[in-house]
Amino acid sequence: MMALSPATAEKFIADNTALVRPPHVPEIRLHLAHEAHELWLRTEEELAEIGLPPPFWAFAWAGGQGLARYVLDHPETVRDRHVLDFASGSGLVAIAAAMAGAAGTVAADIDPFCEAAIRLNTNANGVSVTFTGNDLIGSDQGWDVVLAGDVFYDASFAGRLVPWFETLAARGATILVGDPGRSYLPRTGLEKLAVYEVPVTRALEDSDVKRTTVWRFG
Ligand SMILES: C[S@@+](CC[C@H](N)C(=O)[O-])C[C@H]1O[C@@H](n2cnc3c(N)ncnc32)[C@H](O)[C@@H]1O
Repeated sequence: MMALSPATAEKFIADNTALVRPPHVPEIRLHLAHEAHELWLRTEEELAEIGLPPPFWAFAWAGGQGLARYVLDHPETVRDRHVLDFASGSGLVAIAAAMAGAAGTVAADIDPFCEAAIRLNTNANGVSVTFTGNDLIGSDQGWDVVLAGDVFYDASFAGRLVPWFETLAARGATILVGDPGRSYLPRTGLEKLAVYEVPVTRALEDSDVKRTTVWRFG
């Protein structure tokens, strides 16, 4: 991976994205890739060749859009509570939590571009969140609510998340997951809270709309 200064990351994001409203959460504006940008056209293999991880932060994933929608429509879920948006990507769900009145919001993502992307995106929406690039899996910093949009797409990632979420839920944290039917979503121990039809990008998904469920874990 190339060394990444904040200025380099911000320039890369400015050059490769546009400030747009994700269709299911139009209250929020994000710097996202779209057809006009080269980033959109590059495959994961091409990005790897130039030392870039896949730009998850440049898309508003179906799971994140559903979860952000739920948080904005049910602000009591996060109001006056300490919130972690785990695997924050663009910061979409963290921004929704901050808008809905969370007492404090931490956005966590291990992708080094996310710090700059989330800074630009929170600024665009007039909210502030705290970013961490640490891998928080297995830790507990006393969050009241843990939000996770679109995280069950990879077997080993899901295998680490499930016991962590179970431990946090067992000590009383509210764990909410937004998921459009990814392969590694646990089959048991989830309570369905809401279902949305979320417009997505056909180039990333296999359809124009993804049925997305907000689940409560444990
Ligand atoms: C599909 S994206 C979802 C982004 C956002 N939540 C959304 O729904 O738009 C998955 C994200 O998980 C992040 N991720 C993967 N492993 C992680 C870890 N151990 N800790 C934090 N984030 C992680 C990736 O960098 C990526 O940004």
